[in-house]
Amino acid sequence: VLSVSQFELAALSKLFAVADEMKQLVNTSGGDDRLKGRMLATLFYENSTRTSCSLQAAMLRLGGTVMTVNEATSSIKKGETLQDTISCLCRYCDVLALRHPTEGAAAEAVAVTRRPILNAGDGVGEHPTQALLDLYTIMAEIGAVEGKVITMIGDLKNGRTVHSLAKLLALYKCELHCVSPPALRMPESVRAEVAARGLASLTESESFDAVISRTDVLYVTRVQKERFASEAEYESLKAVYVITPAVMALAKQDMALMHPLPRVGEISEDCDDDPRAAYFKQMENGMFVRMALLALLLGKSEVNSSSSSSMSSNGGISSSSGGQNGSSKC
Ligand code: ASP
Ligand code: CP
Repeated sequence: VLSVSQFELAALSKLFAVADEMKQLVNTSGGDDRLKGRMLATLFYENSTRTSCSLQAAMLRLGGTVMTVNEATSSIKKGETLQDTISCLCRYCDVLALRHPTEGAAAEAVAVTRRPILNAGDGVGEHPTQALLDLYTIMAEIGAVEGKVITMIGDLKNGRTVHSLAKLLALYKCELHCVSPPALRMPESVRAEVAARGLASLTESESFDAVISRTDVLYVTRVQKERFASEAEYESLKAVYVITPAVMALAKQDMALMHPLPRVGEISEDCDDDPRAAYFKQMENGMFVRMALLALLLGKSEVNSSSSSSMSSNGGISSSSGGQNGSSKC
C-alpha cells in the first residue's frame, strides 16, 4: 500500500465493509486470532504515535505479533541502507510498515521484497493509510462524499495526509477547497492528478471566509515544522489559521471538523466538546481500518474465519510492486 492511487471504488467499499466488521468485533469481543502466527514489522525513521500504535494494536487484536524496530539503536546508525534493512526484516516478518523522511522510500522498499509494505508516511509524499481512515470517517460522519464540500486548510504543500486525501477524494464528484498561504499551496502534481480524474473540482484560496458556511468537512492540518529549512519561515506561517469556537459558529451545524493529528494549536481545545469535532473518532477509526487492511493483505478478511480468505488475493488493492522477482527477494 504505497499510494491511494492503487485504490478504486470497489476496493474501498470492501475495505470499509471489513473495517465496519472490525469495529463490531472490537466492541463485542476485543478481537480474535485470525492473524495468529503472522508478524508485522514496524520501521519508523520519523516520530509517530497514532500510526505506529494503531498498527500495533490492530495486529495484536487480530492475534498476530509485532516486531518494533528501533531506528536509533539499529544498524541503520552504522550506515546500513534502507534496502538492506528491509531485505533483512522481511526475512523475519510477514508484512512491514515503513515511515521514512524521503518521498518514494516505500516504493524503494517494495523493490527488494515480496512482503506487503504499508507506506506509513514517506516524507512530503503520501500517507495512504491515513487517507483511507479519513475517508472512512468522512463517510461515517456525513454519509457520503458525492456533492459535498471538503475544505482542506493549513500546510497543503508539505502535509502528506492532504496529498493522499485529495487524490482519494478525486474518485468522487465533490468540491475540494484548498485554503493555504501562497507559500504552502497544494502541489501541482496533486492538483493535476485530481483534475485528471475529471470528477472533483478543486479551487484554492488564502482565506476560508467564502467557503466556511458551505463546508461539509473542514480538514485542518499542522504546519509541518520538520520540513522547513528556516525556523523563521516556520514561525511566520505556523499560526496563520486557528479554528476556534468563533470560527465554528460560522460553520454548518452538521459539518465534520477533522485533523490527522498531532495538533499544535491549529484547533483550539475549546472546540473538543463541539459535537462536530470528529478528530478523536478519526484516530479511533484508524485502528479499525488498519485491522481491515492487515486482514485483507494477509488473506484473513472473513470475520469468524481463522483460516480462509474471502478475497481473491489482497482485497482488490492493485499492486504497486515494480521490482523484479530476483532470488535475493524474500
Ligand atoms: N501525523 C500526520 C503525518 O505523519 C500529520 C502530521 O504529522 O501533521 O503526516
Ligand atoms: N496521523 C498520524 O500519522 O499521526 P502520527 O504521526 O502520530 O502517527
